[in-house]
Amino acid sequence: MTCPFAGGSEQDGSCPNDETLDYHSYLGLDKVLTANTRQSALKGQEAHTEHLFITIHQSFELWFKQMIHELRSVILIFQQETVEDKKLLFIHNNLQRVGNILLTLTHQFKTLESMSSMEFLEFRSYLGKSSGFQSWQFRVFENLLGLKPQWRNRYGKKDYKEFLRAQHRAIVAASEDEDDLLTLVCDWLARCPFVVGEFSSCSFWKEFRKGVRKMLNEEIQQIEGQTDLDEVEREEMLEETRQNHEGWRLVFDEDYFNELQRKNKIKWTYGAFQGAIFINHYRNHPSLQMPHKILVDLLDIETAMRQFRMRHADMVHRMLGNKIGTGGSSGYHYLRTSATKHQVFGDFFNMNSYILSNEYLPDRDVESFLATNDIELN
Ligand code: HEM
Repeated sequence: MTCPFAGGSEQDGSCPNDETLDYHSYLGLDKVLTANTRQSALKGQEAHTEHLFITIHQSFELWFKQMIHELRSVILIFQQETVEDKKLLFIHNNLQRVGNILLTLTHQFKTLESMSSMEFLEFRSYLGKSSGFQSWQFRVFENLLGLKPQWRNRYGKKDYKEFLRAQHRAIVAASEDEDDLLTLVCDWLARCPFVVGEFSSCSFWKEFRKGVRKMLNEEIQQIEGQTDLDEVEREEMLEETRQNHEGWRLVFDEDYFNELQRKNKIKWTYGAFQGAIFINHYRNHPSLQMPHKILVDLLDIETAMRQFRMRHADMVHRMLGNKIGTGGSSGYHYLRTSATKHQVFGDFFNMNSYILSNEYLPDRDVESFLATNDIELN
């Protein structure tokens, strides 16, 4: 008989015995439900709320495990030389799931806040040096997303791995060497038609540049023709507009882009940036709809991660004020700084700074090209 859960059979022993398998054993509840051990109770000073504190942390760890599982499944596909069209829905679903899990977790901090600071103090001293800072699964998750060691907020001038026990340090160090989502997505975006290959120098980017020039010139002309401005106001507005225009240099000057990347001011690559701009403009084309959804998923994950970090920091502030953390950091201050510093997909938001409205887009060439050549991202 085929095992309904493991896909194995009774014969090869890979399937749990049908007669003993029930809800409890299938979910391994013996292990899960006996893992909440309150240190306060062990020390004879039972603190009621420590149960909640442990339950919430344990449930976070289960979800971290789930998110790592989802990320690895997506990474596996992006590692292929060609990302098949039929896999894009799977990628989208799994990334969307990661974003949703992060939102669920962020919401849970509210439940933990039902514990007052005084209640926390009843058992805080029993935590020793335990801290979420030692959550090796959270570190693996961050690394798989693409957070590089050199981007991390260091405290005590130490590497973040030094706070882990040896066995977990090895796991986290190995995850630093794994292919990460950011790098793979950048490679995938850079393979977008019109960014590389035979079409890279084709009319699209030339036409796009013409469209940008036209739009910028019209902006200048509009200010020059505004009769309600005096000379000083006009010059100020023109200066501001010229500075805004300077931002477009990032799109057309690869050396300038790479220089900013070398200085760690930009985390994605020039090819990815161009691919994302292209997809963003032509997202309604059938072959670009799923790639566009995937870009949105990455923005959602980044937003949810930032909310998670900020919400956690605010909860810590409320619980501890400005006290240092059990892991030894400055606590709230460290967490706030990490929330802004530990962004991975933050650059993806910038693609919306480089949008041309339809009247300036070289749609004739590209739309007809995409339509007649059945182009796919790979
Ligand atoms: C009363 C509740 C909590 C307090 C007071 C608290 C406090 C802190 C503090 C002060 C830090 C900075 C490191 C340190 O010095 O210890 C930290 C880091 C961290 N905490 Fe919490 N925490 C709480 C709940 C949680 C929960 C429920 C989770 C879920 C797993 C969590 C996950 C983390 C993670 C992942 C870090 C590392 C963040 C980073 O390095 O960017 N914390 N926590």
